[in-house]
Amino acid sequence: MRDLSHLAEFAPFVAVHDEFAERLLRHQDALVRGDAKAARAELAALRADLVSHMEHEEARILPVLAARGGWGRAGDPQFYRDEHAKIRALLGRFAAASEGLDPGSAGYPRAAGRLIADEEALVTLLAHHDDRESRCLYPDLVRVTTPAERRAMLDGAAS
Ligand SMILES: [Fe+2]
Ligand SMILES: [Fe+2]
Repeated sequence: MRDLSHLAEFAPFVAVHDEFAERLLRHQDALVRGDAKAARAELAALRADLVSHMEHEEARILPVLAARGGWGRAGDPQFYRDEHAKIRALLGRFAAASEGLDPGSAGYPRAAGRLIADEEALVTLLAHHDDRESRCLYPDLVRVTTPAERRAMLDGAAS
């Protein structure tokens, strides 16, 4: 378990990142056991919740940071938006790839294996993004906002 005591206010945001990683693994579990329908459903649900989480950050959090300034070297608000765009693109690509999977076909094991290998790009990007938000975004917000403003920003966050 990570020590995130210094980010207590942001605990729901940190926890939901861990949940996203776990749900991607559940989608891959379903791929491996040959349940393409469950794999598609897991990925679709993850995509909906992850997109909603990023929309919340883009609408309610990043504009506040951008307006206040004062971010550190790796914490330019545009970095988060650029990474969100990459995450969205990968989710769309993998959803499309999973549509074509047929567990009854001879090519299924290879196709499922290839998809899981490709999805490593998303695993890596999500870990990097989580790290950037934990190390830069949340500490920068603590410096430039009041506790009441942070409560308002986090209110209604998808989790
Ligand atoms: Fe986030
Ligand atoms: Fe984010």
